[in-house]
Amino acid sequence: MPGFGGLEAPNEDGTRHSKDGSRDSRDHLPSLMASCYPITLKFMDVCYKVKVQGTNTQGISIKRVLNHGSTPSDQEKTILNNITGMVSPGEMLAILGPSGSGKSTLLNALAGRLQHGHGNLSGSLLANNRKPTKQIAKRTGFVTQDDVLYPHLTVRETLVFCSLLRLPNTLSTKDKISVAETVLSELGLSKCENTIIGNSFIRGISGGERKRVSIAHEMLINPSLLILDEPTSGLDSTAAHRLVSILGSLTQKGKTIVTSMHQPSSRVYQLFDSVLVLSEGRSLYFGKGSEAMGYFEATGFSPSFPMNPADFLLDLANGVCKLDGVSERERPNVKQTLIASYNTLLAPKVKAACMETTPVPAKDSHFVGSHCSEEGRCSNRFDLHLVLSV
Ligand SMILES: Nc1ncnc2c1ncn2[C@@H]1O[C@H](COP(=O)(O)OP(=O)(O)O)[C@@H](O)[C@H]1O
Ligand SMILES: [Mg+2]
Repeated sequence: MPGFGGLEAPNEDGTRHSKDGSRDSRDHLPSLMASCYPITLKFMDVCYKVKVQGTNTQGISIKRVLNHGSTPSDQEKTILNNITGMVSPGEMLAILGPSGSGKSTLLNALAGRLQHGHGNLSGSLLANNRKPTKQIAKRTGFVTQDDVLYPHLTVRETLVFCSLLRLPNTLSTKDKISVAETVLSELGLSKCENTIIGNSFIRGISGGERKRVSIAHEMLINPSLLILDEPTSGLDSTAAHRLVSILGSLTQKGKTIVTSMHQPSSRVYQLFDSVLVLSEGRSLYFGKGSEAMGYFEATGFSPSFPMNPADFLLDLANGVCKLDGVSERERPNVKQTLIASYNTLLAPKVKAACMETTPVPAKDSHFVGSHCSEEGRCSNRFDLHLVLSV
């Protein structure tokens, strides 16, 4: 499997040191896991429309009854409406928005997982300024919202089993097991490696550990682009922070991370490099996480007291904001105002940033050290300086 970039891409110094500073006994493998092929992902004017009602004959009679005898006609539903953004290697992009705002649909579109024929997907999606190839798909990991794991296997068995199945045959069995062990310790799962996964009937690992096993499952192939759908849902804020910190440490290895998040705490919010706020399939904001509050303040929306930016953004995406300095309730024109502001103030800048062609790694080249600073932190190419220019 050529997509296992680590195999062909040694780290800059070709070594890795364990936490206590000693050289890791599995010298060659950790360096494989630490290296990656940088992927810059750009998505421009992404629209997704589906036909609802009357598209198939299944359940048509029920629909006839519900529609008083008439056959329901096809209606087009727009789930994503002109979504634009980008994320570079070494960055974590968080997609925020209320339930039903289109987060999962966008993530599936970015991962090339939207079924063809079911809906109509338009717009452009570029990986390193080119149409995503099979190689890019092989370097992409996708962590779904619902964990799909065998409840009776232990954490270690799960990862070793998966490693044996997913890694290329160019690696020996011993090496595959070593890869599983490396990922296991990287994701802080050593403590529970011999505990079974479990489910709602069989007691097993905790929710946070289960989420980390799902991420570890994808990390086995050493993806350059990792897409996660609400990885922190159901976790307490400490476990969520720990998990997002792990994702942050992965970006420091040059990985590109896109994650949707339901309700991040302020500590978690600070870990995001860029943020995309969605409301009913439309963008309200795209830019640096640290500049979001300034942007909304400049457009006339600010919280009445210091609060978690993520809570405030979620309120706005739901159309809730302060009214007359007294009450907070849903106001019908909040979303429209914010969408209009985005379209006039931000959208042209976001598109211009996406159109800018950034240098891409040569075809079939591997991890390009020059993308990263000495600490391994990749350069943040996306720098809109939103607040200053609003
Ligand atoms: N294939 C589909 N057909 C009809 N409606 C869909 C389809 N996929 C998603 N939707 C609708 O699109 C909206 C966005 O869904 P989703 O992306 O799952 O939102 P989120 O992940 O933000 O909760 C929801 O209202 C959902 O019901
Ligand atoms: Mg979802």
